[in-house]
Formats: sequence, C-alpha cells, structure tokens
Amino acid sequence: MTDAHPTFSPGLSGVPVTRSSVSFIDGTRGVLEYRGISVNSLATKSNFVETAYLLLFGALPTPSQLATFRQDLGEHRRIKYRIVDLMKCLPEGGHPMDALQAAVAALGMFYPGVDVQNPKTQYLSAVRLIAKLPTLVAAYARLRHGDDYLPPRDDLTHSENFLYMLTGRVPDKVLSEIFDACLVLHAEHGMNASTFSGLVTASTLTDPYTVVSSAIGTLKGPLHGGATEKVLIMLTHIGSVSNVRPWLEARIAAKEKIMGFGHREYKVKDPRAVILQQLAGRLFSHYGSSPMYEVATEVERVNESLLSSKNVYANVDFYSGILYERMGIERDCFPPVFAMARVVGWLAHWMEQVKDNHLFRPTEIYQGKHGLPYRPPDDRNLAEL
Ligand code: ACO
Repeated sequence: MTDAHPTFSPGLSGVPVTRSSVSFIDGTRGVLEYRGISVNSLATKSNFVETAYLLLFGALPTPSQLATFRQDLGEHRRIKYRIVDLMKCLPEGGHPMDALQAAVAALGMFYPGVDVQNPKTQYLSAVRLIAKLPTLVAAYARLRHGDDYLPPRDDLTHSENFLYMLTGRVPDKVLSEIFDACLVLHAEHGMNASTFSGLVTASTLTDPYTVVSSAIGTLKGPLHGGATEKVLIMLTHIGSVSNVRPWLEARIAAKEKIMGFGHREYKVKDPRAVILQQLAGRLFSHYGSSPMYEVATEVERVNESLLSSKNVYANVDFYSGILYERMGIERDCFPPVFAMARVVGWLAHWMEQVKDNHLFRPTEIYQGKHGLPYRPPDDRNLAEL
C-alpha cells in the first residue's frame, strides 16, 4: 500500500468542488464580489435585504421585486409558539449556536414536504429561513436570561427588528445601518467550511432546514465563525496595549493560532475587515469608542511583524465582534448573528446545487490493516489492538 495519492489535498485546499456564480474571491488582491458586484459597493450602497435578493436570484431586484421580497420576509418573521416552548426547555447555559441549530432543525418539522427542485417551494423556504433566523437568535438570547420573548414587529426593517427583538429598544438609524452593513459583509463567502457542509447535505436532496442546520453546526467551530467570539475573549485576556507584543510572541512561539487572523483564501488583509474598520469608525464617533478597539489595532500592528511572512492577516472575524459588543450584543451571540447573515449564502448555494445535483461522495486513502483474524475476547492482547 502506498501513502502517496496524486489528488490528495488535506482539507480539500485548492480543490474545486462545484461550479458557482454566487461570489468571487481574489485572495491575492483582496477582492470579494457577490454576483459580480464588489462587497464594498454593497456594504456602502445597498442593504441586507436587497443583497440577499441579489445573492439568491442572481441580479439586483427591481423596485417591485424588492417590495415583494421585503414584504414576504416581513410576513414570515414569526415563529410557532411550540418553537418558543422548545427554546424555553433548552439549558440556559447552553451555547446560543447550539440552540439555533436545534431550533432550525425543529423548524423543518413544521414545514415538511419541501419539493427542493421546485422554484416556488425554494423561494418560500428561503424566505422563511432568512426571516425566522433573527427571531430564533433573539428569542433564545432573551429566554435564557428569564426575559420574555419579544415577537417581531412588521413596521421595522430586517435589522431594526432584530435589534429590537434582542434588546427591547428600537435602534436609531445609525446603529441599524451599521448593523445592516455587517450583515451584508457576512452574507456570503464562496466555498467556506459551512457552505461546503451545507452543500454536502443539500446533495442528498434533503430539505433546506436540514441543510441550514448542518451549516450552522459547522460555522460554530473556532476555526470558522466561532472565531468572532474567541477574538473578544483573546482581547480581554491581553487586556492592555502594552501587553500585546509579549502576549502574541508567547502564543506564536507556542505555535498557537491567533484568533481572527489567517484565511485559506486571502493572502492579504480580508477586504471585509477593512470595511468593518470603517464601520467601527462611524459607530465609535456616534456612541464612543471601545477599549477593545485600541488593543485590537495594536494586535494587528504587532502581527504585521510576526505573521505577515506567512501571509497571515486580519480576517472578517477580527473586528466584527468589537462592533457587535459595542452594539450591546453578547459575545456568545456573535456566531448566531453571523449565521443570520450567512444563511443567505448557504441558501444561494443550495439552490445552485439542487438545480444540477450530484451527490457528494468523495473517497479516502485507506491507511489501516487488512486480513486480520477475528479473536474471541479472552484471546485479545490490548497492546496489539
Ligand atoms: N495565528 C498564527 N499563525 C497562523 C494563523 C493564526 N491565526 N493562521 C495561520 N497561521 C500560520 C500557521 O501556523 C502555519 O504556519 P506554519 O506553516 O509555520 O505551520 C501557516 O500560517 C499556514 O496556516 P494553516 O493553518 O495551514 O492555514 P489554513 O489555510 O489551513 O488556515 C485558518 C486557515 C484555519 C483560518 C487559520 O488561519 C486559523 O486557524 N485562524 C484562526 C481562526 C480564525 O480566525 N478563523 C476564522 C477564519 S474566517 C472565517 O471562517 C469566517
């Protein structure tokens, strides 16, 4: 048996797994486009709902298409009382991402029989999921503290409504616009781990609720969307600007990963991190700065000398949590907020996948033994097993 295999690429690095026209990344030039439009233009000129339409259906909506889509999303924000009851039964110390995954999987039980290749049921499922995820995230965030669940309000925008359901207060325009731009930045990112996980699940032609709950489970990990939360924990550990260099040097010498840095695709600073810093400037000028931001910019400055030789720079997760924390969102809710946005990308890829489906069934390189005899229990030598 040989270990060598000409096509083996650990982590499927550099291996195309599908053809897609949802988004484009040039990791060397720091370019990210959704359906051909730069994410920078969308984050500054568009909004989450319009961007969601673009990602799902391939082109910016006309005014009447946008109005219908907005209305459909507004009408599907509510969740069944049984889902609220289910969330009440979850442990209050559980991670909100686990609660979201469980709730999304349960949601599918209320809407069975999705004909995954029928555009009408695809549309309805996508609308339901995009509309209901914020309600699920806000509901668990409140219920676990013993606060009442706040039903969605139809008169508020997607982002205003989420912040309202979370905090009980209608946010002002600046806050909701900045939050909305954060959702735009997180809405899609090519064949990342959670999208791939969703794609594999989609390729079995199961329902979209199961697809999204698979993807949520994958996004949770600290090497992916879970890094948003870990960045803030790290910055709190570092504590002060003067501690940045010794802290980072010790971690890097111990071969530990610095959270919020590095990306499989980008060899330069993540373009989304650049936009998030601009948004942070706007947020802090209205509501006052965050002490974490000073530590964070110093971490980025010092890492330039420690990690740039490996092309490791700040990624989207590095600054997003600082903004969310300043907006009053709890740290362990950062990954669910990420999921609320990325659900759009997952669904856009789901639609592409089921249109021209091919079951994912890769192969592996077997490295185990062959032809061993079966031994009865008394005849087993532990050292040999
Ligand atoms: N801190 C320190 N060193 C790093 C980091 C980091 N964050 N990221 C990469 N490196 C180093 C590795 O140690 C390795 O060095 P070596 O060649 O001397 O062994 C080299 O850069 C290549 O790193 P890999 O882990 O092989 O690169 P990969 O493409 O597999 O990793 C990943 C990408 C997983 C994102 C990695 O950079 C990482 O773990 N980052 C921290 C977690 C994080 O921020 N994740 C969020 C990513 S963005 C998102 O998912 C939304």
